[in-house]
Amino acid sequence: MAAASDEFQARIDREERIEPQDWMPEGYRRTLVRQISQHAHSEVIGMQPEGGWISRAPSLERKVILLAKVQDEGGHGLYLYGAAETLGVSRDELIDAMHTGKAKYSSIFNYPALTWADVGAIGWLVDSAAIVNQVPLQRCSYGPYARAMMRICKEESFHQRQGYDIMLALARGSAAQREMAQDALNRWWWPTLMMFGPSDADSIHSSQSFAWKIKRYGNDELRQKFIDQAVPQAEVLGLKIPDDDLQWDAATGHYRIGAIDWDEFQQVVSGNGPCSRQRLAHHRQVQEDGAWVREAVAVHAAKHRAGSDGPKAAARNSDTAQEGRADAAV
Ligand SMILES: [Fe+2]
Ligand SMILES: [Fe+2]
Repeated sequence: MAAASDEFQARIDREERIEPQDWMPEGYRRTLVRQISQHAHSEVIGMQPEGGWISRAPSLERKVILLAKVQDEGGHGLYLYGAAETLGVSRDELIDAMHTGKAKYSSIFNYPALTWADVGAIGWLVDSAAIVNQVPLQRCSYGPYARAMMRICKEESFHQRQGYDIMLALARGSAAQREMAQDALNRWWWPTLMMFGPSDADSIHSSQSFAWKIKRYGNDELRQKFIDQAVPQAEVLGLKIPDDDLQWDAATGHYRIGAIDWDEFQQVVSGNGPCSRQRLAHHRQVQEDGAWVREAVAVHAAKHRAGSDGPKAAARNSDTAQEGRADAAV
C-alpha cells in the first residue's frame, strides 16, 4: 500500500491527472466527494434566489438573460454531480446527504434576493467570487472535476457580465435605482467575502488538499484577489463598499478590509441563515415532485438496455449519428 500511495503522490507531483479508474487513497476520494458534491449542491440551490426573479424581470431582454443564467447553474450542478458519481457515490446518496444536513452548500445562497438590484449584485459579486475560486480548480488533480470546471468557468464569465450590466444600468438610473443598487451592495458584500471560507490556518482540510493539488491557493489569498478586483468595479459604478476600514495599502499593492463577522458565517453554515430552511424545504419539494420523471427515465433506459424496442432504437440511434455528422460538417 505504501508503494501505491507513494506512486500516487509522485503522479500528482508530476502534474498528472488522476482518473476514475486509477488507484487513489480513500482520503483523497472522500475529500473530493465532499468538495464536488458541496459544489454541485451550491449550483443547484443557487438557482433559487435568482429563479424567483425570472417572472419579475423588468424587461423581456433581462428575463431571457436571467433565464439562461439560471439554467446554466442547473447545468453546472449536473456536470458536478456527474463528476462526483465517478467516485462511486450515487446521485441519490448525495442529495440525501444535503437534505439531512450532512453535506453543505455555499452559505451565500441562504440570503434572500429582495429586490431586482440583488440579481445584479449576485451576478456581479457572487459569480465573480465563484470565478476566482473556480479558475484554479481547472488544474485540480482529479480529471473529471478539472474538466467540469473548464466548461463551468466559461459560463461564469457571462454570469458576471450580466450582473455587472444590471448594476451599471441601475447606477446610471434614477436616484431611487442608485439607492437600490447601493442597498444590494450593502447586503451582499460581506456574505460574498465569507464565501471564500475562514483563513486556512483555521481550516481543517487545507494542508492535505494542497499536497493533493485539489487546492492551489489559500482562502485568504483568493479572497484578496476578489477584493482587489471588486473595489475598482464599485468605483466605476459610483457605489460605496460598506466597509469604513477599507483602504488601499500601497506597500502591499492590495486593499485592506475591516473585520469579517465570522460568527454570522458560523450561524449561516450551521443552518440558521435567513433562508436556510426555505432553501432546503423547496429543494425537498421539487425533488419529491420530480420523482415520477426520474422513475420514467429509469424505466425507459432499462427498456433500451433490454432491447425491447431493438430495431426502432437502432434506427433512431443511426439518425442521431447522422445528425451528429451533419453538425460536425457545418
Ligand atoms: Fe455556476
Ligand atoms: Fe454562475
